[in-house]
Amino acid sequence: MKTCGRDISKWLDEPLVFEEVDRLIYLKAALFETLRLYPSVPEDSKHVISDEILPDDTVVSAGSSIKYSIYSSSRMKFIWGEDCLQFRPERWLTEDGTKFETQDPFKYVSFNAGPRICLGKDLAYLQMKSIAAALLLRHRLTVAAGHRVEQKMSLTLFMKYGLKVDVHPRDLIPIVNKIGDNVACMGNTCDEELDNYVHLVA
Ligand code: HEM
Repeated sequence: MKTCGRDISKWLDEPLVFEEVDRLIYLKAALFETLRLYPSVPEDSKHVISDEILPDDTVVSAGSSIKYSIYSSSRMKFIWGEDCLQFRPERWLTEDGTKFETQDPFKYVSFNAGPRICLGKDLAYLQMKSIAAALLLRHRLTVAAGHRVEQKMSLTLFMKYGLKVDVHPRDLIPIVNKIGDNVACMGNTCDEELDNYVHLVA
């Protein structure tokens, strides 16, 4: 709304440009949270080339292999807190919900960390955000009745039976009105207020 105004046809005419995608911080937080709970690479292994002592005093000798579970560490209470199993995108945002807050890459290991961190991480987020935004702007998706959602662990984590969804057209008019009315009610249409409100109703 901030970039295209109230005219819905303008929202749908063109794909979002980079700057618009970059501003979708709640979507970004939702994607980070999704990949925390469901990392596409659920476990990773490393080959030890020289004797080493890990920070917890575990001795690893040259020639051995270390496997670590990204899936499990992303669900550990001592790392993520009491609500570690809850899907809560807000954990990636500042308290007022207006800014994305990056976490320590060694805590969020869905893309690995350190010198061998995934080189395509930013491109992956750009693609995910662009596709999700384009789809969800036009459609509302619901899981098809009776469809069983079950994860399958392998080199990558995926859904055993895929994800069958029903696709409903999204009516944007009430959303535009709600954003517009509420911003007008606030008596302040500055950029920051509008950003906050778009985040709240999204
Ligand atoms: C959701 C999407 C993705 C996830 C979860 C992901 C995750 C990962 C992980 C965990 C590693 C570390 C593997 C290891 O330790 O050996 C990795 C490495 C890598 N990824 Fe990704 N990746 C994603 C998308 C992409 C994309 C789109 C690209 C390229 C355009 C890419 C390029 C790479 C490369 C080149 C490496 C090797 C880095 C190195 O070893 O120095 N990834 N990725």
